[in-house]
Amino acid sequence: MSSYKIALLDGDGIGPEIMTEAEKILHLVAERNNITFDLVHTPFGASAYFDCGHPFPEETKAVCDAADAILKGPIGLSHEESKKIPVDLQPERGALLPLRRRYNTFANFRPVYLPKGLAHFSPLKPEIIGEGIDIMMIRELVGGLYFGHKETGINEDGRRYVTESLEYNEDQIKRIMKVAFETAQKRKKVLHNIHKSNVLKSSVLWNEVCGEVGRDYPDVEVIHILVDAAATYLCLNPGQFDVMVMENMFGDILSDQGGGILGSLGLMPSACIGPEKAYYEPSHGSAPDIAGKNIANPYSMIGSVAMMLEFSFDMNEEAKKLWQAMQSVFAKGYSTPDLSKPGADVKMVSTSDFGAMVGEQYSAS
Ligand code: NAD
Ligand code: IPM
Ligand code: MN
Repeated sequence: MSSYKIALLDGDGIGPEIMTEAEKILHLVAERNNITFDLVHTPFGASAYFDCGHPFPEETKAVCDAADAILKGPIGLSHEESKKIPVDLQPERGALLPLRRRYNTFANFRPVYLPKGLAHFSPLKPEIIGEGIDIMMIRELVGGLYFGHKETGINEDGRRYVTESLEYNEDQIKRIMKVAFETAQKRKKVLHNIHKSNVLKSSVLWNEVCGEVGRDYPDVEVIHILVDAAATYLCLNPGQFDVMVMENMFGDILSDQGGGILGSLGLMPSACIGPEKAYYEPSHGSAPDIAGKNIANPYSMIGSVAMMLEFSFDMNEEAKKLWQAMQSVFAKGYSTPDLSKPGADVKMVSTSDFGAMVGEQYSAS
């Protein structure tokens, strides 16, 4: 009987609420497939800082090191609450980026998916949605501005200054491009390369390496789009995109826009893949505005479980069933309040009810 150890990092805000639903689903998956998931909750984020003095405690590192995969809830506090934590120990800088660095999770898959039948969730008009939205955004996750040289100080004129550099070497670009081309090859064989080479030298190298790697994938058509234009096209004609590849910061911003065109960040799961270890997390944050109310959408967290089943445990069929279970709950007219617009014919349910319905659909499939 297979047995997998999964580290569960509940995180902050809505993290524990949506993690609870993901955990229930993991139990169902284990039961049905006669496997064991050894689920170990371990502190991470602002809550870990307040409880243990560090947002990424040593005990959590040890649990993650020993785990076959990591499932992470969102971390972070509201703007005001964040100020209670020293800047370098705030969970984004003190826990999340170190997690990404520790496991070198350079390839971040952020699916932006909405079938035609759920077009009413989107703020875009049905004629813009057309046959539906189905984009795989691939974000480089351990380079660029996030991990470049940083310096703050006082300059010769006695003024405060800050420098942050956007750094990539060709190997970092090459490995994310390979992932992007391989993904495009398995889908529609079209890759949108998102860049800003009219200004940034980093994009000039990015595009050069894209061209070099592309020679090994002659069947994949590459379309180059400037990042600012890409933001517009996502709203005007999202159907033109299939696989998109971009550097870290562009990916951060465009993937949230992805959530926007779907209708909610709650529809945004993700997979963060490194050479030896992967972790899975919603693309969104801890949603302090709705935390503790049992109204957050757990799709992003359960979708992250589906991605874990596919990428870490080679359980593609079960992953598909999980996606289908979530889609069928929506198709029956239920959703959490983020997607239940006034006037729309949608029955509003809580986080826990939505999770339970997904569990029922999955078990029945
Ligand atoms: P956010 O993503 O937390 O929230 C933006 C909006 O989306 C809010 O209105 C929120 O209610 C809504 N939303 C997000 N997830 C939802 C869900 N599952 N269901 C329903 N609605 C949902 O962004 P923010 O408010 O800018 O950031 C809050 C905190 O989260 C910050 O501290 C930020 O640094 C952190 N953050 C963490 C991660 C992460 O852990 N990977 C990602 C993004 C932001
Ligand atoms: C994300 C988040 C993180 C990022 C923050 C919280 C560091 O916004 O995962 O998209 O910018 O990468
Ligand atoms: Mn983000």
